[in-house]
Amino acid sequence: MPYYTHQPVMLDEVLEILGPVPGGRYLDGTLGLGGHSLEILKACAGHCSILGLDMDREALELAAKNLGEYQDRIHLVQDAFHRFEEHVRELQWPGLDGALLDLGMSSLQLDKKEKGFSFIHDGPLDMRMGQAQGFPPASSLVHNESFSRLKKIIYELGEEPMAPRIARAIIQAREKESIDTTLELARIVELAYPAPRRRASRNHPATKTFQALRMATNKELESLREFLENIAPWLRPGARLVVISYHSLEDRIVKQYLRRQASACICPPRSPVCSCSHKKTMLILTKKPLTASQEEISRNPRSRSAKLRAAQRV
Ligand SMILES: C[S@@+](CC[C@H](N)C(=O)[O-])C[C@H]1O[C@@H](n2cnc3c(N)ncnc32)[C@H](O)[C@@H]1O
Repeated sequence: MPYYTHQPVMLDEVLEILGPVPGGRYLDGTLGLGGHSLEILKACAGHCSILGLDMDREALELAAKNLGEYQDRIHLVQDAFHRFEEHVRELQWPGLDGALLDLGMSSLQLDKKEKGFSFIHDGPLDMRMGQAQGFPPASSLVHNESFSRLKKIIYELGEEPMAPRIARAIIQAREKESIDTTLELARIVELAYPAPRRRASRNHPATKTFQALRMATNKELESLREFLENIAPWLRPGARLVVISYHSLEDRIVKQYLRRQASACICPPRSPVCSCSHKKTMLILTKKPLTASQEEISRNPRSRSAKLRAAQRV
């Protein structure tokens, strides 16, 4: 019986695309509680191997328990996924037969108030998925960034139209006293919303600001870009890459990356002759991103915003 678990999103689609086979070597770059990895291991009858990475030490400990039956087949490391190469080399794997990223945070992280991701439960304004990267906590952004940087973070990463008002409210509040907890910040954001908008809003007014600060604190887009830049050469011919994202900016990064990798030429459109010597490395398997079924969404509301894109190494 697994310990604390996380319902893996779009599991059937992930298994069908990755098609785990005995002897295969797979990278799960966002191990979380090992939900996807457990099913990958079951699908290859326990005869494939998984390198599982996560920034969050606690998630790794729980995943190790959830995957205990397959302990000879798993290699779990606390690290950011864009640093996967070092760990693949350490294992002396010649390449990968598949790679999976299921971005964002797990239900465990959201539920643990001391991690500071939640605006419902009070906790320190931390938001780091793990501390090994040496990133400063979200409170550092909230206290040290300029008005224009805060506005940009909240507008771009949170897609929050109220970003200027919220950034101004944060600056004014921090001039009076420090903002140390999630509920303090949530209240500041709530009050920065014009009252009619606050009443009309389906979600808590702090939802988008918290998302933006979490993404900036953990440098989530930077990590994704760096991972994508380096993954193709490690995938063996026929190996598949699956990325599940929950944010339009992440999905755009994946889409543009796959388009580039799937073209034989990436010269500017008006170039008379090709001079880029780019090679096609991937075949796109999902022209449009796959989304969760209605049945899954009603069972697991977290899957509502999931977008899955996949490609195969040529
Ligand atoms: C949505 S959860 C993954 C859930 C997992 N697929 C499962 O079924 O249990 C995302 C996980 O990725 C981790 N994570 C997010 N960004 C990361 C990064 N850049 N490097 C490593 N881990 C990351 C988070 O700490 C979190 O545990």
